[in-house]
This record gives sequence, structure tokens and C-alpha cells, in this order.
Amino acid sequence: MNILVIGRGGREHAICKKLLESNKVAQVFCAPGSDALVKEGIICPNINEMDFEKLINFAKENRIAFVIIGPEVPLLEGMVDAFSAAGIKAFGPTKRAALIEGSKDFAKQFMQKYQIPTASSKTFTDYEHAQNYVNQVGAPIVIKADGLADGKGVVVAMTLAEATLALKEMLLENKFEKASEKVVIEEFLVGEEFSLMAFVNGKKIYPMEVAKDHKRAYDGAKGPNTGGMGAYSPVPQISEALVDEAIQNVLVKAANGLFQENRAFRGVLYAGLMATSSGVKVIEFNARFGDPETQVVLPRLTSDFAELIQALLDDEEPVVTFKETGVNLGIVLASKGYPAFYEKNHLVTGLTELSAEVTVYHAGTYLNEAGEFISNGGRVLLLTLEAKDMTDARQQLYKEMEKLDTPSFFYRIDIGGEE
Ligand code: AMP
Ligand code: GLY
Repeated sequence: MNILVIGRGGREHAICKKLLESNKVAQVFCAPGSDALVKEGIICPNINEMDFEKLINFAKENRIAFVIIGPEVPLLEGMVDAFSAAGIKAFGPTKRAALIEGSKDFAKQFMQKYQIPTASSKTFTDYEHAQNYVNQVGAPIVIKADGLADGKGVVVAMTLAEATLALKEMLLENKFEKASEKVVIEEFLVGEEFSLMAFVNGKKIYPMEVAKDHKRAYDGAKGPNTGGMGAYSPVPQISEALVDEAIQNVLVKAANGLFQENRAFRGVLYAGLMATSSGVKVIEFNARFGDPETQVVLPRLTSDFAELIQALLDDEEPVVTFKETGVNLGIVLASKGYPAFYEKNHLVTGLTELSAEVTVYHAGTYLNEAGEFISNGGRVLLLTLEAKDMTDARQQLYKEMEKLDTPSFFYRIDIGGEE
């Protein structure tokens, strides 16, 4: 089979690499991909993720068996619908089904209707009303832009002043443009966070292993929210009972609910969850593989990834099995300043000194003429390895991270811990 992956980040790197392990796969293509992928034998046509017409033509010309879509924006713009209309199989939700990620207001209403546990909330478009509500409830309180904001649309306000600032930026100053014309104001929840992804085909769900994503930029879970500074899987502090609760109370209900709403979901459904004192509650849904969770979860998949996706697309039963021992840890190397302003075009040094146990997933790099990797994103790359336990994983992986240490980049030194 020839398979086309859409996207260009670390998540797509992990997806492509996993596909290469399958002996059913002849050639992996990734659009637009990256220089790092080309180096691994993946063909990367220079076609933007949003150029549906060119992508469809490319898929036809290269006899693509199916397409896997990484990022949320093309999904929400109807890429799966467009491929399907052209007779090409594409793994991911339709535009209607992807709305579970595209609108937090929709997701909240949906969860309420299908009794999926989540923080209580109210939605506002008017600044005065929102401000009155926040004054009434008090801090801490959580303000969320309704639409997509690159993982940066959530403000956990510990004080009224922070909440007010967030409301002003979103509702009065259009910080995220259309995405923040509406805000969801949510109850502040306390508990251990974890991510649970599942392959979904209509009402059927096939959960992956639990992962943990470190969202805050700095050590001790301080600083602004980012796209993710590191991840690990599995998560020993999340018991099997909690995972079962999440599967039954969240994933099963969500898949069934979407089906009933005529938004049947096929693809990866991602639940960002919190284990609170009153049960597992949903923080957010995503309609795709998580980044960076995928980079630590997919390497643990022991069944054939290409066959699994093909089975889902053919409405057959997929084989989904994971390693039962060990742990995978991933640490992000980010550009200094990220998630706010950061410089690009800095040399990534030390890559050739890494030991063979380490896998490097590139999120934002390109090759210069001298064949060196140069940064071009906030998150530059993620280093990951498998070890027998977390102590070992941290010890080994941080030694490797030091090899990449330069003043241009930073990484958290507490990845693999509980925050
Ligand atoms: P999200 O982009 O929705 O995943 O939110 C980013 C982060 O904000 C989450 O990973 C949580 O750490 C935090 N967060 C979101 N909603 C809440 C909430 N209701 N209570 C406490 N923290 C939250
Ligand atoms: N790791 C969270 C996300 O993919 O949105």
C-alpha cells in the first residue's frame, strides 16, 4: 500500500515512522512533511495541508490506499469529506464530527445532553455579561476561547484580574479572531490530568494506552499553556478502574452520542481528562491524534498500524494491541521564548551524538545546505525512548537532552513527573 499522511509536525513524524514498520506498506508520503521525514525515506510533496484539490490529485496519481490526517484545521475544514467525495479513503472525522474539537461551546452542550461528566460552564459572547458572571462566581475560574487557538485559547485564571484580562483580550480585542468571539467560562477543576485516545469507528471504540502530557511551559507546571512540552505512557498513577470509568463514561458515551447526532465519528477521538474527587471529568475533546502523546503512545503499539487503519476504514474489526511492560518518555526541545515570541533559524547541535536508543521526532526543523538541522518552530523536536521504568527513562533521556543544550533552546527538567 501507498499511504499519504497530512501534516508536518512531530505527531506526523511518529505516524509515518510507525507506518514504515508495516510490511504491508510500500511507500509513505507526507504532505507537506519535512526535511527530517525525507531523510527517513518518506516522500514529501510540497503541497500545503489546506490545498485539498492538489492533495486529491496527488493521492490519485500515486495510487494512495488511504490518507491519514494529522492536524485539526484541515479536518474542521472538511478534508475527509473532500477526499471521500473524490473516492479516496481518509482516516479522520468528517467536518460535522470534528466539531467536537472545533467548538468548545458545542462540546459542552453535547456533553450535557449525553451526560458526559465535565466542569459546569456557561457560554458568552457579550463582555459585560461574561464579566458579571465571573464577578459572581469568583476565581479561580477558567476562560476558554470557543474555537481553535493552537492550544493557547485556555486561561486558568487564579485571580479575578487574570480572568478580566482574558475576557477583555478575547471578547473585546479579538485575540483569537473568530475563535474568541464566544467564550466558555468553566468551573475550575482539581485533580490528576491524563489523556486517553481511542480509535473510533461509529459506535465502536478501541482505546489506546493512557498518556500524560505536560502542557505548561516551565518546570513545576508553571508558565503559560503550550502545545505540550513532553509526554509519557503509560501513566501508573491512573488506575485501571479510572481508565475503565473514562472509557465507559466518556468515550463510549461520546461515540454513541455523536452517532445519534448524525455526526458519526471515524478517526481518533482524544479525551483530555481529569481524575477529580467526584470522578473522571472531561477537560477537552480533540478529533485527532494528540501531540505529543502520539509520539509516546504509537511506539508502544504492537499490532500492525497500517492494517489497523485499513480495517477501520473497511468497517472491519481492527487488531489493537500495546506493549504491556516498560514506559515511553518524550521530552520536547523548544525555542527560547515559546509559546510567546521566539527566534527561528538556530542550529540544532548534538543530534549525531545521541545514543541509538533514542528516537527523534522533528516538529519544527529544516536542513540547511550544509546538511544541518535548523529550527523553524516553537517546538523544535522531541526526544523519546523506551525504558523499563520511569526512573530509568528519565535518567537516560535527560543525559541525551543535555547533548542538545544550547542557549537558543530550552526544555523542562521535570518531564515524567506528575505535573
Ligand atoms: P485545554 O486546551 O482545554 O486542554 O486546556 C489546557 C489546560 O488548562 C488543561 O490541560 C488543564 O490543565 C487546564 N484546564 C482546562 N480546563 C480546566 C478546568 N475546568 N479546571 C482546571 N484546569 C483546566
Ligand atoms: N496534547 C494536546 C493536544 O494534542 O491538543
